[in-house]
Amino acid sequence: MQPHNLLSLKLNGKIVSVQSDPRSRLSTVLREEFHLTGTKVGCDAGDCGACTVLINGNAVCACLTAVGQLQDAEVHTIEGLRETSRNFDRLQRSFLRHGAAQCGICTPGMLVTAVSLLEEKPLPSESEVMDALGGVLCRCTGYQKIIRAVVEANHVQAVSATTGEGGPVGHRVVRLDGQRKVLGQDVFGADEWPADSLVLRVIRSPYAHAKFSFGDLEHFVQQTPGLHAVFTARDVPGKNCYGVHPKFADQPVFAESEALFLGEAVAAVVGDAPTMATFDPSTFPVRWKELSALETPSEAQLPGAPAVHAFRPDNILVRGRVVHGDVEAALREAAVVVEAEYHTGFIEHAYIEPESGFAQRVGDRIEVQSCTQSPYMSRKDLAAILGIAEDAVRVIPTAVGGGFGSKLDLSTQPFLAVAAWHLRKPVRMVYSRPESIRCSTKRHPSKIRCRAGATADGKLLAMDLEGEFNTGAYASWGPTVAARVPIHGSGPYKVPNYRGQTRAVHTNLVPAGAFRGFGVPQGTIAQEQLYDMLAEKVGMDKLEFRVLNALEDHDATVTGQVLGAGVGMKACLEALRPRWTIARQEATAFNEKNGRSRRRGVGVAGMWYGCGNTSLANPSTIRIGLQRHGRIAIHMGAVDIGQGSFTVITQICAEALGVSLDCFDLLAADTDTSPDCGKTSASRQTFVSGNSAMLAGRELRKKILQLSGMPDTVQIRLLGGKLHFGGDSSGKCLELGNLPLDERGYVLSAEATYDPPTKPLDKDGQGVPYAVFGFGAHLAEVEIDLELGTVKVLRLTAAHDVGRAINPTLIEGQIEGGIAQGLGMALMEEFVPGKGENLHDYLIPTFGDVPIVESILIEDPSPVGPFGAKGIGEQALIPTAPAILNALYHAAGVRIHKLPATPDKVRAAILAKTDATQRKSHE
Ligand code: FES
Ligand code: FES
Repeated sequence: MQPHNLLSLKLNGKIVSVQSDPRSRLSTVLREEFHLTGTKVGCDAGDCGACTVLINGNAVCACLTAVGQLQDAEVHTIEGLRETSRNFDRLQRSFLRHGAAQCGICTPGMLVTAVSLLEEKPLPSESEVMDALGGVLCRCTGYQKIIRAVVEANHVQAVSATTGEGGPVGHRVVRLDGQRKVLGQDVFGADEWPADSLVLRVIRSPYAHAKFSFGDLEHFVQQTPGLHAVFTARDVPGKNCYGVHPKFADQPVFAESEALFLGEAVAAVVGDAPTMATFDPSTFPVRWKELSALETPSEAQLPGAPAVHAFRPDNILVRGRVVHGDVEAALREAAVVVEAEYHTGFIEHAYIEPESGFAQRVGDRIEVQSCTQSPYMSRKDLAAILGIAEDAVRVIPTAVGGGFGSKLDLSTQPFLAVAAWHLRKPVRMVYSRPESIRCSTKRHPSKIRCRAGATADGKLLAMDLEGEFNTGAYASWGPTVAARVPIHGSGPYKVPNYRGQTRAVHTNLVPAGAFRGFGVPQGTIAQEQLYDMLAEKVGMDKLEFRVLNALEDHDATVTGQVLGAGVGMKACLEALRPRWTIARQEATAFNEKNGRSRRRGVGVAGMWYGCGNTSLANPSTIRIGLQRHGRIAIHMGAVDIGQGSFTVITQICAEALGVSLDCFDLLAADTDTSPDCGKTSASRQTFVSGNSAMLAGRELRKKILQLSGMPDTVQIRLLGGKLHFGGDSSGKCLELGNLPLDERGYVLSAEATYDPPTKPLDKDGQGVPYAVFGFGAHLAEVEIDLELGTVKVLRLTAAHDVGRAINPTLIEGQIEGGIAQGLGMALMEEFVPGKGENLHDYLIPTFGDVPIVESILIEDPSPVGPFGAKGIGEQALIPTAPAILNALYHAAGVRIHKLPATPDKVRAAILAKTDATQRKSHE
């Protein structure tokens, strides 16, 4: 290879020479050659803005800039802005104060772009911020806090990570991992690798269903300079099978001779970095024979349909069922009955961080560092894949640049582990954006048919829900979806007669898995629209109908579970009432004036969601230790995927221990050093790990008081390596430096495990699936252009019963982010396998799409939540789409039965309604 002419540029204030090929992307050069990994890569196509840098003062996508263009240019990355921009420090502090960074993967791109804006306009308006930052995508925050952070950047005085008076719980504490996010220093899956790492790429099926055979792989490796090895199914040392539910595990690391979905892995190619940068997968020796593919559950359930898996001959992965009372009899007796069918498609998680990581063999152990929501589950599967003991596997989660459920499943890890195990060299990989979209799990497409009946005065009598979910080629979280939906299908209402039945059906499509809500959002779209129809049929106000039927303390649910105290459903609905009244008046006034071309509507929807696993053991363990230098170490096996669990769990622990939050050293998850906190999903970390943290905090406090002989009520402070007792430094204190250490290496330590009390469900789905539910309701205000069919969400008012708001800023962040995802689900998002595998065809909400959000936090404490707290992660998204769809109906009188409600569908529905009305008037 010819050496390249060196070019020089000024990078973060220093003249540097660039060794790379001038055609290389600037983003690649910054990361690979200069290790400036604060510049993130989300798409390599100019779609996400994560790679934004300043070139001669202008915000530019580094992934679209060939480095050869930059001779003598001045380039600033986030790492260099601290020294050179007077606005950067203020912006960072404002981002921290407003909670504008969640996972943080978009944060460098946002900050760099905002720096460029503030250089021009020190006090920008909201719309100027939205215009300037409009090219940077965020999947977590819903953009509201980012806008406020930039608008107010030059007003912020100071940011403190301490709590002020009254203890850590309940305060708007700055997230503990925030500083490194706003400095671009958080290490994500693609940001760190051993210096001599080889690079891995996966060979994947180009067909939804195909047989395949390999050519001469050995010859292929020998004839390709720089290639080190090829791995296939025969190289998997242990079980070529994994899955999140051991009973349903069915997914191979590499397909053996038949690929069951487009993008399924069949082999991995490993080589040195320059070779793999230009590797052309079409040169790989594999022969394909395309077979017919099943695409829909209807096809898969036809008599005689081929089986996706021979061991599941009817293509049914699993069924779910909850039956309570006599639905048919109740529907016969009901004064009003309504029925409908709703369809939703695949939804892509579209986190900005593609799957990535590295693995290395250390003696007879394997270490895998990658982005994951479930380090301990991953460890178990990786041990089985390699055929080694679990304690021979170390999983080190990196920061996670968005997960939303999909990073619960294994992705890069098995390939990396198998390759590094055999090669005894570190191996790294990053999914390309198309690869991430093509192969990662999706939200389950659904077909939900339901009927409901009520008395003439609006009391719910019966609900019958039948849900069919396309679970794709492998099980993933299909069993969880099939189990959760029938439990939640009644909605948070008193329904004396109920039948919820579901099935997850295999097809030859990408596996559907976990996505914020595990199927409950799809079920709620059907159920909440149906209840709107019922209310209309009995002539009741739709909010009133929900208030009348809402679950209350000590009511029984459709699984026969008698709820305790802390059922804040009615309070959520009542909190919406003032806005409900005003919004409907405003909509009526608007429609009277503009109703021929544009109409406004208002919709409401409720939700409930059980926190934690469904009737399964679900423990979490937190360990804390008092160190000789006077700080508390907290071992946090829970992975913070941006929602803020590091901060919330530590706040709970600090409250229980009775010390301030700034005494804590956070030791992030590492399966070698942190106890198992379970997976980050199902809105369980605040509730389950929060309870463990509370118990551990109380235990350590007890030990401290025993050691010091101080009374229960004494105030504890840690200052200068000493424990101080009492409100000022004149009281008793204990020097820690010379005290003996316990078996965990601490002066004193405590470890506590909490497992929520649930009971198994019987064959009718009766039992206690969850120890606690979160409740909520959203009110959507929309405006529809009747000609174009476009729907603009103007405002979303969200009331959530969170039990106790441990950190209101973080909860609002979850609500705003959940609303953005719910809006995407209602109006714009659908993944079609084989199409749109990028972020310019697969559209997610941008700055301009999200409405004004008002969050109302209801605190009806859970008797079993830590300080009363309940989860919020999934809850926030669930009622958004049905509230928008109900508002759409209120505005235009049409219901869209196949989501998303894109302009073409809305327009077609409006035209069909107009036609029908005209036909009727002519009859
Ligand atoms: S990585 Fe450059 S725009 Fe997405
Ligand atoms: S915080 Fe923006 S993508 Fe996660």
